[in-house]
Amino acid sequence: MDIIVRENYEEMSEYAAGVIGRFVRNKPYCVLGLATGSTPIGTYRRLIKMHREGLDFSKVVAFNLDEYIGVGINLDVPYEVDQSYARFMHEELFSHINVKKENIHIPDGLTKDPTGFCSWYEEEIKRAGGIDLQLVGIGGDGHWGFNEPGSSLASRTSIQALSPQTLSDNYESFYKKAGVERDKMPHFAITMGIGTILDSKNILMIASGVNKADVVAKCIEGPVTSQITSSAIQLYAGGVTVALDKAAASKLQNLQHYIHIERLKEEYGMG
Ligand code: F6R
Repeated sequence: MDIIVRENYEEMSEYAAGVIGRFVRNKPYCVLGLATGSTPIGTYRRLIKMHREGLDFSKVVAFNLDEYIGVGINLDVPYEVDQSYARFMHEELFSHINVKKENIHIPDGLTKDPTGFCSWYEEEIKRAGGIDLQLVGIGGDGHWGFNEPGSSLASRTSIQALSPQTLSDNYESFYKKAGVERDKMPHFAITMGIGTILDSKNILMIASGVNKADVVAKCIEGPVTSQITSSAIQLYAGGVTVALDKAAASKLQNLQHYIHIERLKEEYGMG
């Protein structure tokens, strides 16, 4: 696991965008797994800038991690009103880069058959050749996607109920501003499973802020447990990079060791 610690959110975002940008440059036909939430916004802004400077997304296939059930994209209303992840992705990234519409996959929160949709989504990822690089954030309760405490670490794309902590975090970050009453925000979501995420060939996890420090430490250094579903990162066999700002890294017991490894890799040209 490469654990990269940067001074602040901006530098962490710069690093993460650099990883994704290099990936797309080296493998133009790549399959990217993407995430929503507050954390990737800085990364997406930098990817948009890189696109304006020539980075080509026209051959990229994208799969998003998750979507609330009961909301879906409606381009006639702004994101502040339509809090779907589809709308978020459109406004924060897709409408600013040249990814083809037909190459974008986001779980359909308005499907009449959520279970059937989940199986179809899994198949679609396989048909695309699997995810080359999956970007993930980490929830306050340790989730990846909406794989809440107690979800199987082998789970596939499925319907999940949001935990009280996720409901509260996402209400504060997104729904409150939109003037949505708390009990009116969606309580269920379609999410890639932990097993689906672990099938990706590479994972890039990003986290920022002191609020994430405890859970980041549990994820990376605590026991592997379905109570912190992102702790499955410790069982992952592919290439994994964790990009953190100093605040999010502040509770890591072996922080000095991770910083030392990064320096050594740089020194020996292994980065
Ligand atoms: C979003 C997602 C979630 C978020 C996580 C962190 O697609 O799958 O797991 O990555 O909840 O959210 P923020 O970045 O808002 O702290």
